[in-house]
Amino acid sequence: MLRIGKIKIKYPYFPSPLAGLTDFPFRKLLDSIGYVGALFTEMVSTEGLIRKNLQTLKMLESFSSPTPKFVQLFGNNPHSFAESVKYINDNTSFDGIDLNAGCPVKKVVNKGAGSFLLKDTENLKKIVKSIRKNTEKAFTVKIRLGFKKVNISETIKIIESEGADGIIVHFRTKKDGYSVPARWEFAEKIKELTNLPVIGNGDIFNIETAKERLKKVDGIMLGRGIVINPSFFKELKTGKREKDYIILERFIRLMEDFYPEEKWLPRLKAFLRYFSKGKGISKKIKRELFLSKDYEFVRNESLQIFSELD
Ligand SMILES: Cc1cc2nc3c(=O)[nH]c(=O)nc-3n(C[C@H](O)[C@H](O)[C@H](O)COP(=O)(O)O)c2cc1C
Repeated sequence: MLRIGKIKIKYPYFPSPLAGLTDFPFRKLLDSIGYVGALFTEMVSTEGLIRKNLQTLKMLESFSSPTPKFVQLFGNNPHSFAESVKYINDNTSFDGIDLNAGCPVKKVVNKGAGSFLLKDTENLKKIVKSIRKNTEKAFTVKIRLGFKKVNISETIKIIESEGADGIIVHFRTKKDGYSVPARWEFAEKIKELTNLPVIGNGDIFNIETAKERLKKVDGIMLGRGIVINPSFFKELKTGKREKDYIILERFIRLMEDFYPEEKWLPRLKAFLRYFSKGKGISKKIKRELFLSKDYEFVRNESLQIFSELD
């Protein structure tokens, strides 16, 4: 059985942290479908958290269920990480912390956070140390193979020696973007480099690939693939899939319960951008949905489309 720190993980399957997508309603949706090893929030800013920014605090809302739950933090200041982790310890029921050391977005990298930490390894070390010093919760670090050059030997050594409990690797460098396929050939090398559990991530979109990848690492993490098919892990484990219509209906209900009305349209569209992929919906219909400014139309039209597809 896979263990991350003190947590026993029931299924070696993890939905990725995805900004704008793995919010409270989507995590709750995934939890209701089941077969997830742990849930991760979207990336949460340590600076926003220590300033008690309301939007940041809203990202820390969670719900109670047996599935372990992680907060993913990003930032560049070891002290802010310490304060954020203390806040999470004292004010939330999250079971684990994940450090984002992979985000390629300019705004984040320019501040020395996300994937910048892969080249600023001195600061990576300080941050990992600071998180470990302030929590006994399960603690993972999500990295890429490197910034420009592959330097996993160096980063993994730091992460392990400073006391993290697990490593999540997106098998690309920051420079790769999404332009090259994820380089899973590094999985074996990484497993040789560390005794920590390794969760592999990148380009898993179908069940056969997932099964193959699981032979190489201790767990798999899906980003885009889990929004396209939120019952992916159920299908992987049981061969059965939830109906897309039921999923959409449930997501809409959870999303409307959680957000104020003005958020509904952009939030539903963000979900549909992935969820509608590969399901034979015509470009014309998608254009109508994504250009519409009318929430009721997008809601009813998408429910209608998926009720006809199932
Ligand atoms: C829209 C979007 C948002 C993302 N947000 C995050 C994030 O908040 N934290 C993070 O570690 N990675 C984030 N990622 C990267 C994914 O977690 C994942 O590592 C990457 O997409 C590769 O996995 P995939 O091929 O299964 O999608 C994001 C990716 C996408 C497409």
